[in-house]
Amino acid sequence: MQKSVPKKLAYTCLEELSKLKAHTKQSDKIWRTLCKEVEIPPIPPAVRCSKLEYLELWGSLAMGKGDVANDIKVLNNALFYEHQAIWAYNFAAGKLSKDKVGQAVLAIALANQADHKQHRDTLTAVVRQLGGSPVGPKKDYLETVKPYLANGEGNLDSDVNIAKLALALEVDAAIAYGMEVAKLKTPALVTAGASIGSVEASHATVIRYAFKTLGVDIPVVPAAFVSQATRSNWILKV
Ligand SMILES: [Fe+2]
Repeated sequence: MQKSVPKKLAYTCLEELSKLKAHTKQSDKIWRTLCKEVEIPPIPPAVRCSKLEYLELWGSLAMGKGDVANDIKVLNNALFYEHQAIWAYNFAAGKLSKDKVGQAVLAIALANQADHKQHRDTLTAVVRQLGGSPVGPKKDYLETVKPYLANGEGNLDSDVNIAKLALALEVDAAIAYGMEVAKLKTPALVTAGASIGSVEASHATVIRYAFKTLGVDIPVVPAAFVSQATRSNWILKV
């Protein structure tokens, strides 16, 4: 955090904001006042919240250090999984064949990985802004992937099995985000986390769609929910 928001000012802002129903000229005025008083970092591009929501975030940060520590921990958990996903797609890319299926899986892998890199950059920036230390990438995450291989939820021995492994990891990412955002104390961060979680579900859907186009007769969206209860519907066993 560059400079903490004075408590009294934060309370005043939140009190004013609580009277406002939407983003109005008045909330803009409060925004400008607060920006003049303290150095609020710019809203990270991938955190798609309004100035009003961002102001609420900073107000709540000023009011509860415990909440900030909690949110840093949750965001760092998410960041760990983003590093894992980026590593997994790099690792898998080197094992894919040059034939049509291998190249189709590679195209999806690179597109999904590009989103994970954006998630990583945003989470890193937000953890820093909250005054925390973002977790860095490990050299490899092989140990975290082994349980998937042991359970037959993908493998590294063929293009199809690599795609199944990516699918299982993406489904678990979507489920994990749903559970993790519930632990966040800051509404603007909950919104940002939920938007990442929905992209994880999209990644899983794209992989399932690829199987469908390759002639595997499966529903692209196999359940109305992405959760532990429906996990087995979403993944494809080896
Ligand atoms: Fe993903």
